[in-house]
Order: sequence, then C-alpha cells, then structure tokens
Amino acid sequence: MRKYLIAGNWKMNGTIEETKALIDGLLTGSYDTDKAEMVICPPYTALTTAGKMLNNSKIALGSQDMSVHKNGAYTAEISSEMLLTVGVSFVILGHSERRQYHAESDQQVNAKAKVAIDADLTPIICVGETLEERESGNTEAVIGKQIDGTLFEFSAELLNKSVIAYEPVWAIGTGKTATPEMAQDVHQFIRNRIAGIDKEAAEKIQILYGGSVKPDNAKSLLSQPDIDGALVGGAALKADDFLKIINSL
Ligand code: 13P
Repeated sequence: MRKYLIAGNWKMNGTIEETKALIDGLLTGSYDTDKAEMVICPPYTALTTAGKMLNNSKIALGSQDMSVHKNGAYTAEISSEMLLTVGVSFVILGHSERRQYHAESDQQVNAKAKVAIDADLTPIICVGETLEERESGNTEAVIGKQIDGTLFEFSAELLNKSVIAYEPVWAIGTGKTATPEMAQDVHQFIRNRIAGIDKEAAEKIQILYGGSVKPDNAKSLLSQPDIDGALVGGAALKADDFLKIINSL
C-alpha cells in the first residue's frame, strides 16, 4: 500500500511573519499520519525559520528547487548541502514554472534529481502538458518524453527514492482541474511507463496530482487508484484549506 503525500508548494509567497503564522496553524491541526505525510515547500528565505519550527514535528520540509552544483561560483544558487543544513528533506524539481520561465530542461531535472538523491533529499519530479499539447492530442507523447528524460538512467534504487508529480500546466492556478478520470488516465500512463524501467518500483512510487487542488475536489482526485497525493499551490497558503485537503483522505 502506497502512503499518501500531501505537499504544499508556496511558490513566491511567505514573508517570515506569514511563514510563522501559517506553520503555527498547521502545527495545531491534526491528521492521520499513518495515511499521509505532509510536506511544505516555502521560499528559500523562509526555510531556516520553517526548519526550526518543524524540527521534531511530523511535517516535513521541502524546497522549490536546488542547484545541480555542489558549491562554487554560481551566483544566487542554493546547494543540496545548504538545504540539508536547514532541515530540508524534499525538493521540487522541474516545476512547469521553472521550465517556462527559466527554460529548465528534462536533462537538467534529471541531473538535479540524481544530485538530490545522492544528498539524501527526495526529489518531487514534475511533469505536465500545456493546454495546446492536450488539445492537439499529444498529452501522452509529451508526458512520456518528460518521464523518459527526467528519469534517464534511473535504476530501481533511484526510483524508490523519488516522487513524481503530474501537473497539467493548464490546471495550475486557473481554477480548472483535470477531472479525476483525466488525471487517473495520465497517472496510470506514467506508472506503466515507469514499469518499463522496473515493475516493482513502479508499484511503489508515489505519483502526486497538482493543479487547482482544493478542499472540495481533493477527495475525488485522491480516491483514484493511481493518485497517491497532491502538490498544492494556492490552497497550501491557508492552513485550514491545506488541513482539509489532507483530512479528505
Ligand atoms: P495551484 O494549486 O495554485 O493550481 O498550483 C499548483 C502547483 O503548481 C503546485 O506546484
């Protein structure tokens, strides 16, 4: 049985004061930790504060990106080691906003994922098609290529230390969600594709859905057989909503 993972991607939101208030709200809430793990991914500047507040709590800390380099002359980059020192254990990689605004490629995501795993960070590797790609009937071709590229040369061992997130670009921040059936179809497609690398690892790997997940649609999405959690944007910025999503399980 795969455990659920409910991850909050705060994106570029969260001053120190806002971070403190949001985490306070999450820490007072309750949910079934046997069923699901919660991880929050605040911006870099809030990670130290968040790490201190979450120390010894059941909530895990993630970052929204990471440098592929270990250290050196890479202005504005943050390394895996730096993330570890503030208590980070997950890292979102290849989010569509990184791909769109910073031209991140599958190859770069693949290289970062290997560096993350090597540092004992769990990568949340994002894939997703645009509206144009879906409407032209290319969803599976696009997702297949992203999965093959981001998981290039992955062994079963690396797959066992990774999480995948399917986020249709047209559903992010738009209020438009994939129907549970549409999401399930793509999740099943991803799992089958990963089974081509290793069958057992494909059964174990968590595949999260992201794109306008809210308290009122979480249950129908999360009850699909191949949806193992959510990567939540807007609704992760309100403790009540985020707790409602994890408690919809
Ligand atoms: P929204 O939940 O705001 O649509 O964002 C989804 C997302 O991009 C999470 O990474």
